[in-house]
Amino acid sequence: MKRTYIKDLSSVKGTEVSISGWVDVRRDQGKMIFMDFRDMSGYVQGIILPGSLAMEIGKEVRPEWVVKVKGKVNGRPEKNIQPDKQNGDIELEILEIEIINRADTPPIDVTGDGSEIGEENRLKYRYLDLRRPRMQNNIRMRDKIINFFREYMHKNDFIEIETPMLMKGTPEGSREYVVPSRIYPGHFYALPQSPQQFKQLCMVAGFEKYFQIARCMRDEDLRGDRQPEFTQLDYEMSFVEQEDVLDFTEGMFIELIKTLYPQKKFTSVPFPRMTYAESMEKYGSDKPDLRKNKEDVDELAFCWILDFPMFEKTDEGELQAVHHPFCSIKPEDKDKFMKGEDIFNIRANAYDLVLNGYELSSGSIRIHERSLQEQVFNILNISKETQQMKFGHMLEAFSYGAPPHGGFAPGIDRIVMLLQGEPNIREVIAFPKNGEGKDLMMSSPSKIEEKQLKELSLKLDIKNKDDK
Ligand code: AMO
Repeated sequence: MKRTYIKDLSSVKGTEVSISGWVDVRRDQGKMIFMDFRDMSGYVQGIILPGSLAMEIGKEVRPEWVVKVKGKVNGRPEKNIQPDKQNGDIELEILEIEIINRADTPPIDVTGDGSEIGEENRLKYRYLDLRRPRMQNNIRMRDKIINFFREYMHKNDFIEIETPMLMKGTPEGSREYVVPSRIYPGHFYALPQSPQQFKQLCMVAGFEKYFQIARCMRDEDLRGDRQPEFTQLDYEMSFVEQEDVLDFTEGMFIELIKTLYPQKKFTSVPFPRMTYAESMEKYGSDKPDLRKNKEDVDELAFCWILDFPMFEKTDEGELQAVHHPFCSIKPEDKDKFMKGEDIFNIRANAYDLVLNGYELSSGSIRIHERSLQEQVFNILNISKETQQMKFGHMLEAFSYGAPPHGGFAPGIDRIVMLLQGEPNIREVIAFPKNGEGKDLMMSSPSKIEEKQLKELSLKLDIKNKDDK
């Protein structure tokens, strides 16, 4: 008999069906056994009636066993109907159970919300943790959100272009992960902190509208809204001004929420705008939380922060670009910029989108002229030789007809976290690292064998005993 998905059962009332899935809960009442089943499409309550041929196997099976069940879809008596529940109007009268695979008692409960279980265990057994309805919903909604973005981008004539994972470092403020090259001993690739340079080069290449669901890697200190690898909806457009990027992005977020989260309400539309200086003065932060009622899980307070400064000093006293060195300078500050004066008051055409106090995204209108790009590097005290060595490809590309361009890169993990009402991004990533950057399920990072080290021409010099 052909398999019926559990979600379709109530449309075939009165017929015999075959379902496949897991035993979710089992309540043995002696004469009768109640058994809930689940598959990728949902849940249904089953019942083994007294005298049924399925009774013997029904006594044996346990939660989380994989089964194939033949049964009859019966309407429930009026008083037992649960209208708010999936399949609340039916019950599966179990006629036969075939055990496909037995399961040991799971080390963690997978039926509840999971918040009572230590995260260490949840991450170690992530494939079980993901069975719980909350996690299934988070990961399935994440897919819907990504799918919405892909379709929205395509509808607006963007094309998705995959950019390399093995590349040369991007100067985006964080430490990068490096990958040793076997063929070129002593040489390393860097994993992308973002596709920033490639997307700009796609503009030089004439694609005009690029996007990518882009994986990014950064070796930085972790927080609830940060992972060492994460995903951006990365996009870039040619012949645009700041207003075009803001307008396009705002329209996209409004449609996303109206389509997938119609119950949510915006605090203000159009999204309020303020400059970085205003936000710092008024809220002491560049990520103000503008919700009217912070208890309301459905309130969404978006806001734009504009005119970020171009340069800042790090805690170590080094000069760096606030966002990245490819941002263009506001016309009013161009004079100072060209003279290299009063540099901390030079503002960039750089903007952030903030939601409920979280930075969702950063972007800017970029530099597309070689001499201006060189001036940023000069102000950052990067020698001509280093400029050539690190960014020669960008400077050269700008010499061959680079169009004006700009873009944005909303963090998908943060968007899903906020829309799903989760407290951290680990809850919306299928296989995240823990707070210390470890994958507890596979135990990574891990050591590599001597043979592999040799092949890569690497020798370890470990000072810290704990690392041995
Ligand atoms: P930025 O570095 O600001 O900009 O990153 C853009 C967005 O990516 C998300 N994000 C992260 N999410 C989870 N874990 C992390 N460690 C993490 N780091 C960043 C945030 C952030 O707002 N190339 C530029 C964008 C551009 O200029 O177009 C960039 O990467 O949501």
